[in-house]
Amino acid sequence: MFLVTGATGDIGRRVVRLLRTHEMSVRSFVRLTSRYSELEHRGSDIFIGDLQEEKDIQKACQDVQYIISAHGSGTNALSLDYRANIELIDQAKANKVQHFVFISVLGVDRGYEDAPVFKAKRAVERYLQASGLNYTILRPAGLASNLLPLAERFRETGLYLLIGDPKNRTSIISTDDLAKMVVDSVRVAAARNKILPVGGPSILLRGDIPQIFGRIFNKEPVLINAPLLLVDGLRGALGLFNSEGQKALGTFRTLLANEFFCTTEEIANLEAIYNFKLETLESFIKRYLAV
Ligand SMILES: NC(=O)c1ccc[n+]([C@@H]2O[C@H](COP(=O)([O-])OP(=O)(O)OC[C@H]3O[C@@H](n4cnc5c(N)ncnc54)[C@H](OP(=O)(O)O)[C@@H]3O)[C@@H](O)[C@H]2O)c1
Repeated sequence: MFLVTGATGDIGRRVVRLLRTHEMSVRSFVRLTSRYSELEHRGSDIFIGDLQEEKDIQKACQDVQYIISAHGSGTNALSLDYRANIELIDQAKANKVQHFVFISVLGVDRGYEDAPVFKAKRAVERYLQASGLNYTILRPAGLASNLLPLAERFRETGLYLLIGDPKNRTSIISTDDLAKMVVDSVRVAAARNKILPVGGPSILLRGDIPQIFGRIFNKEPVLINAPLLLVDGLRGALGLFNSEGQKALGTFRTLLANEFFCTTEEIANLEAIYNFKLETLESFIKRYLAV
């Protein structure tokens, strides 16, 4: 039995679909408010709970052999990115789980002080490495699925809003490829007890993305390039009445202000480990938007 947290998220729902395609038994950890009917129809067990509740995590981990931690936090990095994962790892040990897959983030080891999600994920990585469990830690760059709403808006308007430096490099990964790696990690020996940077097949400039959309939709892009100062202004204003929101924006700013890309060697290594060719951003968008 696989336990998947974040089972209704962009990565998690693709992981559950793949596992069910291979007829593996899956327990999807969802909230009562989550949109989980698709997972149920695909034959996954549904465990309703809240990852902020230790007792829910304890119950969900009973009798599972594999744990895939794919939940996100929104604004609560301490409770969800940190505490929930520590509890999942403790329960994995208690239940003698065979393999633990953790979705971290590229750049987590760079010591970004203003990014609580990065700090939480690095602490969890260390805890998992010291746990004695078999593990795979995947550190993705940006997910292609994040760009689907932007691509839809571009199709209608030709507009693309880019905050920060268009020359910053990125390695957008097909969310389907990432889900495949997650699932394969429990059986591929070369992925065992590894931390792997995960990106797409080519290094892109952030400014390449509207050009790619332009090619796909046959439309000249109208680029609105806003400075990072915009986010700084928003953070300053938020700090006056919502310090949690201000901290969450710190992670967002870190993502916009820095480069997140994998080297060609890292990508070749990834393709060798998982034995498949990674999909380009262009192909991913075309597939989903039926172009
Ligand atoms: N998106 C990216 O570009 C990116 C890049 C690198 C790493 N990552 C990491 O990859 C992981 C998954 O990202 P994603 O984009 O697939 O996530 P996502 O689409 O934002 O989904 C988040 C998931 O977490 C669940 N969740 C949130 N709070 C919960 C709670 N209290 N109890 C139970 N479940 C809860 C959500 O459930 P509901 O459906 O109920 O909201 C949802 O299933 C995250 O750890 C993220 O940091 C993402």
